[in-house]
Amino acid sequence: MGITRRDFLSRVGQAGGYSAAFLTMQGMGLMEAQPARTQAVEAAAGSGKGIKVVVLGGGIAGLVSAYELCALGYDTTVLEARERPGGRNYSVRGGDKVVFLDGTTQTCSWETGHYQNFGPARLPSIHPTILGYCKKLGVELQVEVNMTNSAFLQNDAANNGKPVIMRQAVNDTRGHVSELLMKSVKQGALDQEMAAEDRDRMLSFLRTYGSLDEAGKYNGGDRAGYAKLAGAGDESGVLSQPLDMHTLLDCSFWQGMLFDQQFDMQATMFQPVGGMDRIPYAFAKALGSSVKYNAPVTEIRKTAKGVKIGYKQDGAPRMIEADYCICALPLTILRSVPNDFGAPYQKVFHECTYANAYKVAWESRRFWEQDYNIYGGLEFVNTGCSPIWFPSAGMFSHKGVVVSGYTDESSSPFGKLPVMAKFDESRKSIERLHPGRGHELEKPMYVGWGKMPYNEGSWIRSYVPNEQRAPGVAVAPQTGQAQHPTQARTETNTGYETLIQPDGRFIVAGDHVSHIVAWQEGAALSGLRAVQQVADQAKAAKLAQAGAATNAPA
Ligand code: PHE
Repeated sequence: MGITRRDFLSRVGQAGGYSAAFLTMQGMGLMEAQPARTQAVEAAAGSGKGIKVVVLGGGIAGLVSAYELCALGYDTTVLEARERPGGRNYSVRGGDKVVFLDGTTQTCSWETGHYQNFGPARLPSIHPTILGYCKKLGVELQVEVNMTNSAFLQNDAANNGKPVIMRQAVNDTRGHVSELLMKSVKQGALDQEMAAEDRDRMLSFLRTYGSLDEAGKYNGGDRAGYAKLAGAGDESGVLSQPLDMHTLLDCSFWQGMLFDQQFDMQATMFQPVGGMDRIPYAFAKALGSSVKYNAPVTEIRKTAKGVKIGYKQDGAPRMIEADYCICALPLTILRSVPNDFGAPYQKVFHECTYANAYKVAWESRRFWEQDYNIYGGLEFVNTGCSPIWFPSAGMFSHKGVVVSGYTDESSSPFGKLPVMAKFDESRKSIERLHPGRGHELEKPMYVGWGKMPYNEGSWIRSYVPNEQRAPGVAVAPQTGQAQHPTQARTETNTGYETLIQPDGRFIVAGDHVSHIVAWQEGAALSGLRAVQQVADQAKAAKLAQAGAATNAPA
């Protein structure tokens, strides 16, 4: 006899009380588990005493690993190549220098208090681990406005290139789709699919959902906004004329419109007050002298009893020995650091491909707020630099930092442009959406992660070479569009399966060994997992030692 899901849940509820039903629902994926908190590593307090671990890379994965190792009493050292913690978690402010692999240097001269998060720039509310660390470490958070209905969408090839306001595109599309569906239901086209009792319910739903009139027609409405805002006295408002369905389809605005429907892009999103790098700096403060800066790794070796890591400290060669190594370096970097990882790992390091996301950011008068009522959020442009991303910090102040262009530039013509030409393109996008405002943009900064020393890429795109990529896998996740970097994980690859296994006393960490690629949550979870793997090995080694001691002849 079949049993429905609801039956099953109510039976569990009766048998085990509320908490049993609750846990079962979590298990079945009907309920999201975990508010902001960090998971605990399962290991006895102080079990790390006397055991040395070296962590390679002071990005989020490395910092979380080190933090948890220290909490368990491990003797922990982090080797960080740069003079700062954070890796891709990188906020640029006035006075900072951005230096590329080829030596190209940009110096930022923004006003005090202005910054741009060139790496991660938003924290979804469904990322409890990284939010949990923010709470634990006292990193103050504020809301990050990912989308606003006042922002614009634009496509050169449609609507005469005229931008459309998000609220209009969203609500006109919804109105037209509802109208069509209403027609189909009324004409009986869906009678096979729908019970008779649901027909009427569907019609009344569509009337409200699409803002349709009694006859089922969409004539626009105030959800889509006003051509002239209403005022006091006899100043009545004038509604915007609805865009027709043909224009909306032609514009292919839906990707931009639906961007914040993705699970990890939905409100409420957060950002640390003062810059995303408040997170790594809080970790760094907690870790103190366990983190060695200006210490790039030069060699990763296995020894009879553990690991041996070569590095440079302020230019001078150094060596550190330890029992375990958590390697949180980008795989692109492991290609050129001599190492003793086994052959299957080497294959992944060399065969995987990385995205090269970039951002261009400008200082400007807050024309978006002052002239357009846009506060935070994204705007999407179909050709040229996209998206435009307005700051969520410092609203209502005079100037701010705005992004124009944030995608994977790997195989795009934009990627080949010299920096100055990239700035021209970036400015053009703003000008296209907000005529006359392009010239207000000043002091541009460009960070392309493919050009950054110690990164050489933004996030993993594929664990296998291009030609082996499974069908349906995004070749170039477009950050501005509704494609998703985690698609890299949907491949039938053994590369990922290899990386998530310890290679003896080497353990890989980083968002690339998580299902949440290109997010700090993935990096943090991978760090926790790596520490668990160390703890499990250490426990097994202790047990084996104890066993050997008992079996030893007296
Ligand atoms: N986390 C990054 C961002 O928020 C990269 C990303 C883009 C991840 C799009 C998923 C989807 O921009």
